[in-house]
Amino acid sequence: MNSDLKNFIVLDEIDSTNNYANHLIEAGTAENGTVVLASYQKKGRGQRNNYWESACGENLLASFILFPALLEASDQFYLSKVASLALVRWLSTKTTGVSIKWPNDIYVGQKKIAGILIETSVKGNTLYSAVVGIGLNLNQTQFSSNIPNPVSLKTVTHMEYNALQVARELLAVFMNLYHELESGSFLKTDNAYFNHLFRRNEWAWYREKGELIEGRISGIGPYGQLLLEVRSGAVHSYLFKEIEFIV
Ligand code: BTN
Repeated sequence: MNSDLKNFIVLDEIDSTNNYANHLIEAGTAENGTVVLASYQKKGRGQRNNYWESACGENLLASFILFPALLEASDQFYLSKVASLALVRWLSTKTTGVSIKWPNDIYVGQKKIAGILIETSVKGNTLYSAVVGIGLNLNQTQFSSNIPNPVSLKTVTHMEYNALQVARELLAVFMNLYHELESGSFLKTDNAYFNHLFRRNEWAWYREKGELIEGRISGIGPYGQLLLEVRSGAVHSYLFKEIEFIV
């Protein structure tokens, strides 16, 4: 077995796999590449303090633990890029139309299939630990009405998936991209991330502080900011939560 695949902790039920992973790090019992998986999360956490909904036993709920000593604290967004690209790469072996909705939602067509929640700690100027939390909708076909636009792999491909098997494959893809990054392939990662962005180079509507603006994604800033060209030709830069896609 690949040495990256040895440390899997598989739980039936937990508050959140990210919480569990953070506790392991605090207790000093986690290793680089340890994965926490659960069938059900009572308090699954999403971006913007949202609850991450996932029916029991249907989907992938995983937290990958890393000790990214080779990454500067200011390079944190590269973990989002690598996690997003790993999901795009794996999903693209199963279906078409997979993209990354900035900063790290994974879409199939116009619908969200996966979300990522990364939590890091810093020591000096470098990252000490990272928990890369991934929720990937595999077999669930019905979602509560307050989730805007969910989709699962089963809905798209009409096949069933085994979460543990998917986690192993995804971790292998993730670790390959992560090791490439550690050996310095920042530009390659930047290009791959940009090339897979949802609505890249396409005029579309966004909401900024309650106002609608028309823009076209023209790049990603050094800390992961969204660079949006507007009709006047000016380029605006946004941090996460400063701009909302109208989907
Ligand atoms: C998002 O809002 O898009 C991010 C969702 C991240 C959900 C995953 S599920 C596994 C891990 N544990 C959590 O509590 N959250 C992440």
